[in-house]
Amino acid sequence: MAYNLRRGANLTIIDSGEMSEPFHNSEASTRLAQKIRNTLRGLVQRYAPPSIKRHLWNREFSTGRWTCLERTVGESVHLQVEKYANQGGILDLGCGPGTISVELNPETYSFYTGVDISDVAIQKARTRALEAGRGDRNEYCQSDILTYTPTRQYNVILCGDSIYYVANRQIVPMLCRYSTYLTKQSVFIARIFDVSGKLRHTLDIVESHFDVVEKHIHEQTQMCIIVFRPRT
Ligand SMILES: C[S@@+](CC[C@H](N)C(=O)[O-])C[C@H]1O[C@@H](n2cnc3c(N)ncnc32)[C@H](O)[C@@H]1O
Repeated sequence: MAYNLRRGANLTIIDSGEMSEPFHNSEASTRLAQKIRNTLRGLVQRYAPPSIKRHLWNREFSTGRWTCLERTVGESVHLQVEKYANQGGILDLGCGPGTISVELNPETYSFYTGVDISDVAIQKARTRALEAGRGDRNEYCQSDILTYTPTRQYNVILCGDSIYYVANRQIVPMLCRYSTYLTKQSVFIARIFDVSGKLRHTLDIVESHFDVVEKHIHEQTQMCIIVFRPRT
């Protein structure tokens, strides 16, 4: 049989059933390749040395993969952060382009520190804070949250969709280290984008090692906001 390989003719052949197998095979191999890429990316984000993580996040911020973070959509942690900031300090671990730092009610906090592994995200956050007239109270620092050392005490330490980029076995030691920079009555707040699947374990880790002050799970999206503090 002679095949005409023009695009339209190709579609006809695929529809015949006889040729559908190779088509499905190529679709399946594309999906498999994507799955492998995502798995590798997840491993790099959690386990790679800081310089490689930094490179990966810088590339993704530079190529526009994360422009979606530049405005808040859906459920946000703003209300909880404003409630517990108590006119004091906020430390935002994995702040990205700093969206919450320019959206919070300025009357609810006196200083804010955003930390992120990506220089590109940090530069973006700094520029946005200056444009929003918050250069005096907001500061940003490029660092791995696993090793960053705060220089003051905070009322709120926020992990907005960033805690699960830390390997599970490092979550508790990291949070315990940061606990020493919380003032009395202060809290951690974490946002986890979907606790119905693999990220349920991240939530379990937090709940089994800390006192939960508040927890909200959005029924439809399964997005979780948890407020917690060190056990007394
Ligand atoms: C999904 S984004 C969330 C950004 C921001 N918190 C928000 O809610 O818009 C995750 C952020 O965590 C940062 N990140 C991931 N691993 C990190 C690490 N080990 N140290 C510091 N930042 C990290 C990424 O660069 C990225 O900006």
